[in-house]
Amino acid sequence: MPGIPVEYLITQYDLEQGALEIQYIEEHFGEFPSKKTATEIVRRLRDRTHLILIASGPAPDDPGMIVPVSYKVAHEICVEEMEPKLIELVHRLQGHVQFDGRRVLYTWIGGTRRDWRGQGHFRALTEQQEFWAIEHGFDEVVVKTKNKFYEMRGTLDHLRFEVMKYERNPLDNAESKVYLSKRLHPELIERHRSSRTVVQATI
Ligand SMILES: CC(C)(COP(=O)(O)OP(=O)(O)OC[C@H]1O[C@@H](n2cnc3c(N)ncnc32)[C@H](O)[C@@H]1OP(=O)(O)O)[C@@H](O)C(=O)NCCC(=O)NCCS
Repeated sequence: MPGIPVEYLITQYDLEQGALEIQYIEEHFGEFPSKKTATEIVRRLRDRTHLILIASGPAPDDPGMIVPVSYKVAHEICVEEMEPKLIELVHRLQGHVQFDGRRVLYTWIGGTRRDWRGQGHFRALTEQQEFWAIEHGFDEVVVKTKNKFYEMRGTLDHLRFEVMKYERNPLDNAESKVYLSKRLHPELIERHRSSRTVVQATI
């Protein structure tokens, strides 16, 4: 028997409030070695086009309570970056991603809290990100992960991201970097599966 269709609840945040929300949600990720602070997030995003999305869902022990469960933060990257980490990223992408005359969106951070994994929240966020990116004239979404992040690799596979670069770590292959991308075109939206309610956060 088919299950009841889920309507995912997604909130889009402005920078200051979004940075605080991301800092809060990252505190729930025990497996992340370095958690981003709100200051770091504001610094990275303030001068570039960006998108902060958070999905909410019912708390398992109190379904009446809606809590943030999954998030995705992305920003534009260009050839002329000023921040050392982004200069390096763009340098590593050269020859694999075409920047000339195109807009490239980099998915910087994201994840789903353990108790809510496997329920489609990350797919819903990814599809909403793609919808927004196409609406804003982006041509491609790029994401970086590591060999050892098996859940993320499996998920990106399901979400039809393609590996475009693999950077082997000579000491430990689990630490090797994997770069993936997805070209954006309006027909992609027709293949989206999630049903979503998207709201803008209000203070
Ligand atoms: C990866 C992660 C974001 C997935 O979030 P999620 O909300 O559970 O994902 P969804 O339920 O939306 O699943 C999306 C798709 O990926 C698939 N998927 C989810 N987890 C998977 C896994 N562990 N292995 C393989 N596929 C997986 C789902 O089946 C689904 O595909 P489908 O829609 O075709 O059925 C979550 O497991 C996570 O935060 N993991 C830790 C993140 C991490 O290690 N980050 C390190 C930096 S990159």
